[in-house]
Amino acid sequence: MARDNESSAKRQLRSAQWFGSADKNGFMYRSWMKNQGIPDHEFDGRPIIGICNTWSELTPCNAHFRKIAEHVKKGILEAGGYPVEFPVFSNGESNLRPTAMFTRNLASMDVEEAIRGNPMDGVVLLVGCDKTTPALLMGAASCDIPTIVVTGGPMLNGKHKGQDIGSGTVVWQLSEEVKAGRISIHDFMAAEAGMSRSAGTCNTMGTASTMACMAESLGTSLPHNAAIPAVDSRRYVLAHLSGNRIVDMVHEDLRLSKVLTREAFENAIRTNAAIGGSTNAVIHLKAIAGRMGVELELDDWNRIGRGTPTLVDLQPSGRFLMEEFYYAGGLPAVLRRLGESDRLPHKDALTVNGQSLWDNVKDAPIYNDEVVRTLDNPLVEDGGMCVLRGNLAPRGAVLKPSAASPELMQHRGRAVVFENFDDYKARINDPDLDVDESCVLVLKHCGPRGYHGMAEVGNMGLPAKVLEKGVKDMVRISDARMSGTAYGTVVLHVAPEAAAGGPLAAVRNGDWVELDAYAGKLHLDISDEELQTRLAEADPTAASREIASTGGYRQLYIERVLQADEGCDFDFLVGCRGSEVPRHSH
Ligand code: FES
Repeated sequence: MARDNESSAKRQLRSAQWFGSADKNGFMYRSWMKNQGIPDHEFDGRPIIGICNTWSELTPCNAHFRKIAEHVKKGILEAGGYPVEFPVFSNGESNLRPTAMFTRNLASMDVEEAIRGNPMDGVVLLVGCDKTTPALLMGAASCDIPTIVVTGGPMLNGKHKGQDIGSGTVVWQLSEEVKAGRISIHDFMAAEAGMSRSAGTCNTMGTASTMACMAESLGTSLPHNAAIPAVDSRRYVLAHLSGNRIVDMVHEDLRLSKVLTREAFENAIRTNAAIGGSTNAVIHLKAIAGRMGVELELDDWNRIGRGTPTLVDLQPSGRFLMEEFYYAGGLPAVLRRLGESDRLPHKDALTVNGQSLWDNVKDAPIYNDEVVRTLDNPLVEDGGMCVLRGNLAPRGAVLKPSAASPELMQHRGRAVVFENFDDYKARINDPDLDVDESCVLVLKHCGPRGYHGMAEVGNMGLPAKVLEKGVKDMVRISDARMSGTAYGTVVLHVAPEAAAGGPLAAVRNGDWVELDAYAGKLHLDISDEELQTRLAEADPTAASREIASTGGYRQLYIERVLQADEGCDFDFLVGCRGSEVPRHSH
């Protein structure tokens, strides 16, 4: 047994605070664990590795995680560690109302306290569906023990009428086709079964795939973690190898803070531009960085990401799906292309396998130049996120140019205003709505406080009367988010939001709004005096006050959530609190 007389190296492990003493406390900690059939020699001071599992049948994207956990365990045991699997709140995107983002911070609190309060020396984060990746990384970052990410992997390509169809993206496309009268509801329903035909996460470059790529480019996972399909046997090999590796990371004291540096976040921002990643990454990376104490600003996305060519030709910006991405070489292929063209800002950033990011990818094979395109033939010349500012968004807003229509990137139009999402739903298809394709759709009160969780409704569907003309895109502005699988010339994350007194609350029907994405400008064409007068007349916080009065987690959320430019974390959760925990005495 590793008791007080064991080597100092073994006593330095966190888990020795629980299992390392021969006194009454050690007895009690070990004794209860032994009810699972653990023999005494397993308490010999070997690293205890937590497997933080977001498995849930209500999170279908993560429903195969028990099998992944079994392979992680094999790897941990093989490397001389002892695995302890534990469940945390699983916030699945498809079922959870009002939106999975509402519970991202809740899940992160669960993760943080579960890691800190339990006997583990390292942790494997099993993540997949959109918000599970940032939630687990946020919670782990606040603890800062050796940590490795294992993603569940994307679904196989969807199939409908002999064609590939992409998760989410096809829903937006076909629902607009139904609205425009171009396909039948029968055809629409037929696509349903073909879209999600295997275990795994959305197979487009939506938020789940984006965050998997972010985790890999941040250096928190082994190479290829982002793209191996969920049902590919190599996914299980990666899980096994990650189990091997986390044990060594504990011996090397390779904690998350050595990986999640400012340099790593700069690499991730550049990577997001190259993959045509989700706008949600802007919020999540800020939140993860905040937990690690790394300064990251909205303008970093302009400074580091803009101008980077989008190389990955995946839906919703392009044509292909995650299966093709993996077969083409996956994220290592993209990182190699970036590095060879001096576009990878920090090649020497450390990753969880102990090597630099560049060492991991410099010889990566690239099998398909159509999927991972070359620098001289990119999908979008000038990718990345446009960060917009102006009197309509003093603290910023974002637009994803690779998903936008080039002809709308500079546009001046008459505002058609919806006060909230219910108002939008009630009136958008009204034949009497005074709207045409030159107008700008403005949606208010869908920010973090206004729609408690900042719903993914920013890509609001176009009015039926516009769709019927064959129009596919209009400028849309809101304080909401947008699904990573969606597309369009959509201005999102306007900060401050309307429910926090932001100028969005002052926009009225008939106002003129000017978007110049190239210049980073978002302007409401009224005088400052008029803007102030309107804001003084309005009481934009009334709605959120009413919701807050209902109590519970919702009240905590509304009262303490930060704005989009700050990552939507709770103000009291920002920062790394470390893994120290007061010694418990039975
Ligand atoms: Fe879970 Fe898309 S809904 S990954």
